Amino acid sequence: MFAIPRFRPSVSHREVLSFLAAAALLRRHAVDACERDFARRLLGGGRVVLAPSARVALCWLLEALDLAPGDEVVTQAFNFPAVPAAIRAAGGRPRFLDLAPGSFEADWRRLDDLLGPRTRVVVVTHLYGNPADLAAAAARCADRGVTLVEDCAQGIGAAAGGRPVGTTGRGAIFSLGPTKNLTLLGGGAVACRDEGLARRLEALAARHGKVRPLASLALMVKAAALGVATHPLPFSLALLPLLRLAERRGVDLVHQIMEEPPGVIGDPIRARRPSAAMAAVGLAQLGRVDALNRARVRNGWYLRSRLAGVERLTLPPLREGCVFMSFPVLHPEREVLARALRDRGVDSDLGFMADCSSLPLFAEDGASCPHSARTAREILHLPIYPQLEPRHLDRVATAVRAALDGV
Ligand SMILES: Cc1ncc(COP(=O)(O)O)c(C=O)c1O
Repeated sequence: MFAIPRFRPSVSHREVLSFLAAAALLRRHAVDACERDFARRLLGGGRVVLAPSARVALCWLLEALDLAPGDEVVTQAFNFPAVPAAIRAAGGRPRFLDLAPGSFEADWRRLDDLLGPRTRVVVVTHLYGNPADLAAAAARCADRGVTLVEDCAQGIGAAAGGRPVGTTGRGAIFSLGPTKNLTLLGGGAVACRDEGLARRLEALAARHGKVRPLASLALMVKAAALGVATHPLPFSLALLPLLRLAERRGVDLVHQIMEEPPGVIGDPIRARRPSAAMAAVGLAQLGRVDALNRARVRNGWYLRSRLAGVERLTLPPLREGCVFMSFPVLHPEREVLARALRDRGVDSDLGFMADCSSLPLFAEDGASCPHSARTAREILHLPIYPQLEPRHLDRVATAVRAALDGV
């Protein structure tokens, strides 16, 4: 029986051909076409501007919103560290909202505690593809005249209260790397619905060049290599044994390769926007993003039903409109659980999120967020990507139950 990798990129043959055709024919209009199609299909209109990454998109958005030095920007403490780093890079001061006790998400009803005279922006994050409680955040922002921005890096295609995420806030950011619900092989995007803001974002985008042809090709080769390495056969025969060997030395090889030092923004001026060839991949993928998300949704709810009632395992609070970028669980001994799962041929991931309030980088922002710290210690992401079928998820659930018997 083949082992189950923690993730697999979804890049089809058609998308590889679109990439090659656009690269060969220098289809410059692919970027504009991708931006328009993204707005139409995923946001029901408005404007999208492709960006070097979600973090640079956030820098642009904050600059376009005229954030002044020292203005406060509220964001959740359990976060991707590049988010508060982008707030800092844009001149703002991050203020951290803790998670609700023993949970996966921030309690946006507690936002009032953090809103002060210098608060300008609140960044609400839709984590794991699960929409945040936007209504609670939006009501409080409206009362206090604070601008709401949505971080949809993990929520592409999700809906909150029946509306696509990214359409409630003044602006929204997206991340388009190979493990996201929609990929351009890399890069990000920023979206908004007002023309004035869109023009300012476009002016900021115009300061950046596009990813050069060889670098685009390198991204495609990397995605293809990832696709091969996570194919069940090579994964079972080569990668999983390597992962287990490294694990004995206390190293997660995937993290060794992919993890960045906390808070890296890259140079927000020189970082390059997606090339026409990358945009062509996005255009092709936009045609099937709904189908990919439907497979994730089927898998997510199925796995949740198969894991119901497992003792000492906390399952995520899922909302209607969730698109399952990942399937997180909480367990007090997640490393032991991850090792026991790998012994049973199921790979899982500790993830790349942290309690940012406790990172030395943000020490001067002086918050203590114990619930975020606990979630950061206990979270484990199980495989959920579209290529998996219910029979694979049965194996994941059986492995979790068996592994927990021994933990
Ligand atoms: C919630 C969240 N916000 C922001 C980012 C940053 O995205 P990027 O790597 O495109 O800058 C990520 C990355 O995965 C993320 O998960």
